[in-house]
Amino acid sequence: MDLFVVKGGTSLRGRVRVSGSKNAALPIMAAALMADGPTILHDVPELADVSSLSSLLTTLGVAVVRRTDGAMTLESASDEPCVAHYDLVRKMRASVCVLGPLLARRGRACVSLPGGCNIGDRPIDLHLKGLRALGAEIRIERGYVIAEAARLTGTSIYLGGPFGSTVTGTCNVMAAATLANGVTTIEAAACEPEVVDLGNSLNAMGARIEGLGTPFLRIEGVERLAGVEHTIIPDRIEAATLMIAAAATRGRVTLDNVRMDHLTSVVEKLREIGVRVQPRGAAVEVHVPAQLQSADCVALPYPGLPTDTQAQMMSLLTQAQGISIVTDKVFPDRFMHLPELVRLGARIRREGSSAILSGGRPLSGACVMASDLRASAGLVIAGLAAEGETVIRRIYHLDRGYERLEAKLAALGATIRRVKDDPAAIPESLAVPEDNAPPLVPWVHRPAA
Ligand code: EPZ
Repeated sequence: MDLFVVKGGTSLRGRVRVSGSKNAALPIMAAALMADGPTILHDVPELADVSSLSSLLTTLGVAVVRRTDGAMTLESASDEPCVAHYDLVRKMRASVCVLGPLLARRGRACVSLPGGCNIGDRPIDLHLKGLRALGAEIRIERGYVIAEAARLTGTSIYLGGPFGSTVTGTCNVMAAATLANGVTTIEAAACEPEVVDLGNSLNAMGARIEGLGTPFLRIEGVERLAGVEHTIIPDRIEAATLMIAAAATRGRVTLDNVRMDHLTSVVEKLREIGVRVQPRGAAVEVHVPAQLQSADCVALPYPGLPTDTQAQMMSLLTQAQGISIVTDKVFPDRFMHLPELVRLGARIRREGSSAILSGGRPLSGACVMASDLRASAGLVIAGLAAEGETVIRRIYHLDRGYERLEAKLAALGATIRRVKDDPAAIPESLAVPEDNAPPLVPWVHRPAA
């Protein structure tokens, strides 16, 4: 296992390119299961999650090739396999996005339930509700979802849940409905740009989906889908993470390959905090002209502030004078990073699905533990803003979803090293703090007079 050693205190400066979106690429790769002919995808990021899905698709009979020009080609060579094994699915929950395409194209899907997750309860009941409404017979056996249907049939589906819409649930049901017999309508569909990117790529394959980007989708089923050539949208969460890192270090950073229209809520919040965000063509420049201000943040489904930026925002707000309240209405338990930020000296306490934070005091480097992908990014940002060195353990979480993050940060001037997790890797500056307190007076038992 690797860890990062981050030396804080340097303002990030320079220019980097944002990679293609992980969460758009994954369901689009899975949709290749439904295509006749090759799918060619540009700007698929090189990440652990992409490798995991490539391995899974390979076991499902898809030839996945990374070409020398960076493009990925996927072509289904056999319609036989339909089992997504636990060993592969447990590594990455998003593997569940093969469920809809497998069922629609092959008539049968046997997909392991992913199991526990560090960011809270993550059921897939809405995925199953939508697929059942399309006529699938679904049962759970030995930890696997077994779904069967000779041909799905179009219908009306309401996909809202207790925490709003579901992103991968919408992807699964929308993808399956493209090959159903007749018209499907989905109400309370997720509006995230990643869902829209999947919908656009499906339409380019021959699907007939209307209403993308709105909560109401109308899908007219077609007989077949063809392969497609498609460029994945820029990763809005990576863009937000780099913007927040620039702000937390009071730097000046230009990001290329950014879709500002996907980042409205993030940019609005950053401006409220005192960060200047200026679009420059297809790029954006971020810097901090004055002191950072506290702000309240509520993570909501799109177009609200993304839950995937909540941890990073919290790190930024430790640098802003005053009290901030950060609430997560998508994953109300997504606060594993909070005690780690406290280890760095942040003053935060949790109240239900909120964290109350008193910012504006310097953080000081320490050893911390990453618990999930975005929490890791939050800790890296806190480490960049802290005085001294911070060690972030378990960064395999980060490798799942950020393409060469440390290289990009280093290109912006950050001092960040990846080393093997070994006691010798812990910098001396992080040894137990010196005890300057006066020696304890031994407690002496004085018998009563
Ligand atoms: C996607 O997860 C993303 N993953 C997550 O990003 C992201 O945090 C999340 O959407 C919310 O934006 C991918 O796109 C691969 P949901 P997903 O279904 O689709 C509840 C990252 O770091 N719910 O939209 O699994 C659920 O518990 C990851 O890149 C149900 O109740 O999330 C949650 O509270 C982490 N029943 C809310 O809905 C269901 O059947 C939203 O979940 C499904 C979800």
